[in-house]
Amino acid sequence: MKNVRVELGSRSYSVMIGPNLLARSAKLLDREEFSADPVVITNRTVMRLHGGGFLQALRRRWPRPAVILIGDGERYKDLATVRRIYDSMFRTGADRRSWIIAFGGGVVGDIAGFAAATFMRGIPFVGLPTTLLAQVDSSVGGKVGVNVRQGKNLVGAFHQPSSVLSDVLTLRTLAPRELASGLYEVIKCGAIRSEPLLDYLESRLEQVVACRPAALEKVVFEATSIKAGVVSSDELEDDLRMILNYGHTIGHGLEAATDYRRFKHGEAVAWGMIAALGFGRELGLLDDRSAARLVHLIHRVAPLPSLRGISLAHVRTAIQHDKKFRRGSVRMVFLPHLGEAEVRSDVDSRHLDLFLSRFLANPGARPTEV
Ligand SMILES: NC(=O)c1ccc[n+]([C@@H]2O[C@H](COP(=O)([O-])OP(=O)(O)OC[C@H]3O[C@@H](n4cnc5c(N)ncnc54)[C@H](O)[C@@H]3O)[C@@H](O)[C@H]2O)c1
Repeated sequence: MKNVRVELGSRSYSVMIGPNLLARSAKLLDREEFSADPVVITNRTVMRLHGGGFLQALRRRWPRPAVILIGDGERYKDLATVRRIYDSMFRTGADRRSWIIAFGGGVVGDIAGFAAATFMRGIPFVGLPTTLLAQVDSSVGGKVGVNVRQGKNLVGAFHQPSSVLSDVLTLRTLAPRELASGLYEVIKCGAIRSEPLLDYLESRLEQVVACRPAALEKVVFEATSIKAGVVSSDELEDDLRMILNYGHTIGHGLEAATDYRRFKHGEAVAWGMIAALGFGRELGLLDDRSAARLVHLIHRVAPLPSLRGISLAHVRTAIQHDKKFRRGSVRMVFLPHLGEAEVRSDVDSRHLDLFLSRFLANPGARPTEV
């Protein structure tokens, strides 16, 4: 088992990463000094696949955990679900001493974390992320929240977990597209902070995709360390934390332009990274060889859904609604070198427009100098 420490003063916590952690959860969480029984928030899919062994292990230390099942899918990440969670918690006698276990992917983590941040003005929670995306991204950093009619993740809080257990064996049951979606976020971590992680992925991609425990442990550990390092120095998302958004400005535009139906989040980020590489080349950033290397690695993971038919106007509107857009300029992350990121606040939106119109028409085209 590996351990990553998220350093946030009195709210510091450990992320434990390895195989078979669910079976050892009672022991691993025992040091948390929780006296009351936990409230496990999960969904039917995760419960069916991994709940039996986990609850059995948990009961060795906390005999009567409450289990709250929520709907499976992004559409359930809303305030109605949070209200149902509060109702169940009050019904089962939860109080200020209670604590929550977020057992599932990023959707469960965001909702359960938000319920923990707000129930009785805040109770502790522990993350047990079961998707690759949740292990390397959403479970670390304390951003919790829900979607509202006006947009995604617009209501939420910063509430750090007490600890996180990333059991890499849970990833073996993931649908291939979900695994790939998380892998693009791992590639993003390498791209912004660690060329050695990219080297590793290039040489061991097949082992990772085949869910070999050692390979999964390695990539989850490396990506978590990168996210933890960034979050530790910039908890409330200013300049440094922005580098984690590499590929996300255009990625979010693509997701919104297709009504969040065509792409998994990581797939949109993958296209966003490819586009940012091409656009970066036009700004004179990153050499051709390094850009081609990263594009090749991204395409090796799995085929990406096509960009066919996506309207530039829709992507543009989404980018302009993004909080990174200010009066004609877009804030975007670029790679001056592989393993290094740079935030630019002065990206000319007309230049980005021109680039995107060419990119959407021909995403495979080699970038051209202007
Ligand atoms: N808080 C943050 O910092 C942050 C960062 C990135 C993403 N997010 C959020 O994360 C969410 C996406 O998370 P996600 O990609 O994990 O999606 P998800 O939670 O919807 O999980 C994807 C699917 O996999 C299933 N699943 C979960 N674990 C499984 C397992 N071990 N085996 C088989 N199936 C399993 C889920 O039930 C679901 O159907 C979005 O809502 C996004 O906004 C949050």
